[in-house]
Amino acid sequence: MNYYSGKTVYITGGSSGIGLAAAVLLASYGANVFIFARNKEKLKKAIAKIEASKKSAVQRFAAVSLDVSENRAVRKAMEKAVKEFGAPDVLINSAGVAYCNDFENTSFEKFDEEIKIDLYGVWNVCEALVPVMKARGAGHIVNISSMAGLVGVYGYTAYSAAKFGLIGFSESLRGELKPSGINVSVLCPPDTDTPQLHEENKTKPAETKAISGNAGLYQPDFVAKAMLKDTLRKKFIIIPGLEGKFTYIMKRLCPWLVEVVMDGAIKKVRRQAAKK
Ligand SMILES: NC(=O)c1ccc[n+]([C@@H]2O[C@H](COP(=O)([O-])OP(=O)(O)OC[C@H]3O[C@@H](n4cnc5c(N)ncnc54)[C@H](OP(=O)(O)O)[C@@H]3O)[C@@H](O)[C@H]2O)c1
Repeated sequence: MNYYSGKTVYITGGSSGIGLAAAVLLASYGANVFIFARNKEKLKKAIAKIEASKKSAVQRFAAVSLDVSENRAVRKAMEKAVKEFGAPDVLINSAGVAYCNDFENTSFEKFDEEIKIDLYGVWNVCEALVPVMKARGAGHIVNISSMAGLVGVYGYTAYSAAKFGLIGFSESLRGELKPSGINVSVLCPPDTDTPQLHEENKTKPAETKAISGNAGLYQPDFVAKAMLKDTLRKKFIIIPGLEGKFTYIMKRLCPWLVEVVMDGAIKKVRRQAAKK
């Protein structure tokens, strides 16, 4: 991972979960790391953890409180960040929220929040930073989608709408930025043991648990390592772990089979519930 040494990396959602794991790894590889998220207390704790992993005394770190769903605020904050820290060599859009429930139990407000943070949030940050990254003529953008951005799973109507959208956005952006030397990747993690997963588990229907249980549970450090490695390989879709890769291939080659398996899991849950 020598590439990252001395590089400037911006990470939205860098105060927790996958974003924080990536920030800690990048600090240990010698990168200058700048994280963006809303909660100031969480940012403070995260930056201390990131700094503690640094490789040398010359590395720079900072934490900025920012809501990525606010277009104007993002533009202002990123303009300031570029002046202070320099344009990013690597931008990781990890900020996100996940709500999981049946469609009829998902309010408009929840849907709106998902789209505003998980989709508009990435647009806002890219809008602010692509011009300065293009001016450099090199770099990487990694947008964090999900396995739920590749396969529509029971309970994820709002989340999948945002995460499928993010893959389309990233694929279009990839083609546009390639001639400028900027590589775009999209990370699609399976279930990862983070505060977000714990939060979504509070409302997750049994049907969703039965389906997503097949794709395994990963640690944020494993997911972040896979992301940083495959980013350097300039892979477009990055899927950590074998189960997720297998699901993606099956979805592309035999979508009907994936549907049969998911419908079977839903039927089983319903049968078990009826027996109780
Ligand atoms: N964990 C999983 O199983 C899983 C699976 C697939 C994909 N993902 C995706 O991976 C990414 C990281 O998730 P995670 O599991 O690491 O979650 P996490 O531990 O909850 O971290 C989410 C981060 O995003 C920040 N954030 C949330 N809303 C924000 C906003 N409006 N503006 C700025 N920052 C915001 C949070 O900080 P504040 O709340 O303080 O702002 C936090 O730093 C997300 O995009 C998620 O959808 C996760």
